[in-house]
Amino acid sequence: MSNIQYITGFATLENPLDIDSFVAKGGFSGLHSALAKTPAEVISEVKRSGLRGRGGAGFPTGLKWESVAGDDERYLVCNADEGEPGTFKDRFVLEHAPFLVLEGMAIAAYATGAQTGYVYVRGEYPHVVASLSSAIASAVKAGYLGEHILGSNFSFNVEVRKGGGSYVVGDETALLNSLMGNRGYPFLKPPFPTEKGLWGKPTIVNNVETLAYVPYIFTHGAEAFASIGSSGSPGLKLFSISGHIAHPGVYEFPMGTTVRELAAAAGGILGNLKAVQIGGTAGPIFDTAALDYPLDFASMRKAGGALGSGALVFMNTTVNMAHVLEVTMRFFAEESCGQCFPCRYGTRQLAFMANKIASGQGRLEYLDLMRDTTHVMVGASFCPFGQSIAFPLESLLDRFGDEIVSFIKQQEFLKEAAV
Ligand SMILES: Cc1cc2nc3c(=O)[nH]c(=O)nc-3n(C[C@H](O)[C@H](O)[C@H](O)COP(=O)(O)O)c2cc1C
Ligand code: SF4
Repeated sequence: MSNIQYITGFATLENPLDIDSFVAKGGFSGLHSALAKTPAEVISEVKRSGLRGRGGAGFPTGLKWESVAGDDERYLVCNADEGEPGTFKDRFVLEHAPFLVLEGMAIAAYATGAQTGYVYVRGEYPHVVASLSSAIASAVKAGYLGEHILGSNFSFNVEVRKGGGSYVVGDETALLNSLMGNRGYPFLKPPFPTEKGLWGKPTIVNNVETLAYVPYIFTHGAEAFASIGSSGSPGLKLFSISGHIAHPGVYEFPMGTTVRELAAAAGGILGNLKAVQIGGTAGPIFDTAALDYPLDFASMRKAGGALGSGALVFMNTTVNMAHVLEVTMRFFAEESCGQCFPCRYGTRQLAFMANKIASGQGRLEYLDLMRDTTHVMVGASFCPFGQSIAFPLESLLDRFGDEIVSFIKQQEFLKEAAV
């Protein structure tokens, strides 16, 4: 397991808002070399690197940039909504290496012809709004953003927007609605945001981490990036590690690093491992077999899950899986945006049954009813939020169903014994 550091290397700077120390460490050299190429060459370099989006879906970044079509007026949006429980890597990047994100945005804007960029920051990160605004002002003063960047004909301005605290607004379509001042409801694709996004104009949406890896490609070369990680999932990845682990935090490792290797790097599991949730709350909950899973897009799909945001939440044998079920279903019920009926109603029904189970008033028939409800939601919900609920629910029932059944029976027995 190699320990190449890129984002985490920049994150060691004593003052992340000091642009001179960022430049002294090699910052903005990627922008210099990108501006020496044509926009088409920049896109082809990103395609050759194999960079895939770090926001969850893993869409190839170069292809997305290439697909921008239509009007001259275009926008670039950095998705810093990061509402996924157990995910805190974008906050880490924005707190410790904000100029890397701005450099990546400038390169992306040059490649795609965007004149204006927005960073949509999660509402619960107000300090990031303030620090990023200061970083933008320094970058404009030093000629890395604003008019005629580095003496070229390329101009690009960035503004920061604070989100309202909704999880679903992390979805790019809901985010664009929110940015335009509308209610944060997702909308149907196609048309994709690259065709029709903000105010009907072509818009690129990229995750914070995706943009922070772009300068690497122009500093070290597309081949260097492509040579790290696994085939089909090149490069480095930030992992948010939490739960029963000795040193929770953000770790940077090549794609394809196993769960076991990451757990060891984070000081090891506290107690005996029982379960690990990978990719966020909408991801499956695995048992100890997950220790040998390589963390990349293809391997996680093969394991029946998804790499998602790269979050890993470790749970030891003290954890009651009936309580995990309740917390997970409550999350979905609280975060459903309410736009469509199957998700609005289904999440509340699931939360109700999970709450009854966890509080000792559960009935065995709830388990089948919960599965049936998720089947309807997967087929009928409007957006991936409602469709993904089957991952945590079915994985919990498939792998830890016996424990939940025993818990329900034990609570029934205790009630009868008390009468
Ligand atoms: C319910 C939901 C929540 C999401 N939350 C985020 C998020 O917090 N941050 C993010 O970058 N992408 C999130 N996404 C994915 C975005 O829609 C989009 O794919 C991503 O921002 C594209 O950037 P990338 O290509 O760089 O990965 C979410 C998607 C869904 C369906
Ligand atoms: S599936 Fe849920 S989150 Fe998505 S639009 Fe419907 S109600 Fe909103």
